[in-house]
Amino acid sequence: MLENNLIGRGRRLRKNELIRELVCETKMSKKSLIYPIFLKTGNNVLEEIPSLLGQYHYSVDRVCEGIATSIDAGVDKFILFGAIEEMQKDEFGSNASNEDGIIQQALREIKGQFKDKVQLITDVCMCEYTSHGHCGVLNQCTKSVDNDETLKRLREIALSHVEFGADILAPSDMMDGRVLAIRNALDDAGHKELPIMSYSVKYSSSFYNPFRDAVDSEPAFGDRKSYQMDYHNVREALREASTDTIEGADILMVKPALSYLDVISKVKNITNSPVAAYSVSGEYAMIKNAGLAGIINEYDVMRETATSIYRAGADILISYFAKELAQAMEKGDM
Ligand code: PBG
Repeated sequence: MLENNLIGRGRRLRKNELIRELVCETKMSKKSLIYPIFLKTGNNVLEEIPSLLGQYHYSVDRVCEGIATSIDAGVDKFILFGAIEEMQKDEFGSNASNEDGIIQQALREIKGQFKDKVQLITDVCMCEYTSHGHCGVLNQCTKSVDNDETLKRLREIALSHVEFGADILAPSDMMDGRVLAIRNALDDAGHKELPIMSYSVKYSSSFYNPFRDAVDSEPAFGDRKSYQMDYHNVREALREASTDTIEGADILMVKPALSYLDVISKVKNITNSPVAAYSVSGEYAMIKNAGLAGIINEYDVMRETATSIYRAGADILISYFAKELAQAMEKGDM
């Protein structure tokens, strides 16, 4: 074949900005972004989180400031997390379902002010509220997390989040049967229309460490490997995704995102449900800190990594960079 008669001249479609825009395969919208918000016990708290520079702890009385800033930046969907004092924790994570629990108060506060201008997603889990830091109720003899006892607590937590205004529930504990348990609890209580975004495929990952520092949820003993997934496995991820779909999950989430692009892509291939990816705290912290150290360009790497997650198949992205990504998308920079 002659050199001047190549089969494909890929560079034709890379010639200039406008033609690149035309053939761009991954088109992203700020409407698909979810921003994590961290609540903290106390009054008048607005503190930068040391393990997550650029992210803040808000007390309930100031959380609306964080919400307003995000809305200004173009993000109106949030996932809420709570950091409470050690003395507020107990074995059953009671604060997670108390009517004066931190998430319940925050839901009331934010919904009171912003009503339906925001979508509030809540993390249905116990680890931020238990004295032992595990995601469920412990079996007193074996000290391992008791699956079916935990389901009872998850139902209570879910119902209390809905009572105070949650728009979407996101169970993140990785117990078997939790989606079905929560779905049934919601339906029985008349909340048939309330969606569940399941953390379907959640790996046991060291990328969560900055988050655990932020909410003080490191397990007091052992690890989470008996409930979160082993990162060597991908067929297991598909089983989890299928099970959650059958149990009634409306949105399937893969977490973490960056080291799991293959998983996102495979889950996407087997489902017709929306797929969410959670780009977790460790992913953010690595980019943030390498950027601050002048080793990489934070803005460029943020855009490249977020694009790769969408390219892998994510329809929805949960990211600590949500505000900056929304701005970049608005500017046509993605
Ligand atoms: C709670 C929960 C965790 C994260 C989200 N929900 C921590 C964990 O499972 O240990 C991690 C989020 C992040 O790292 O950004 N179960």
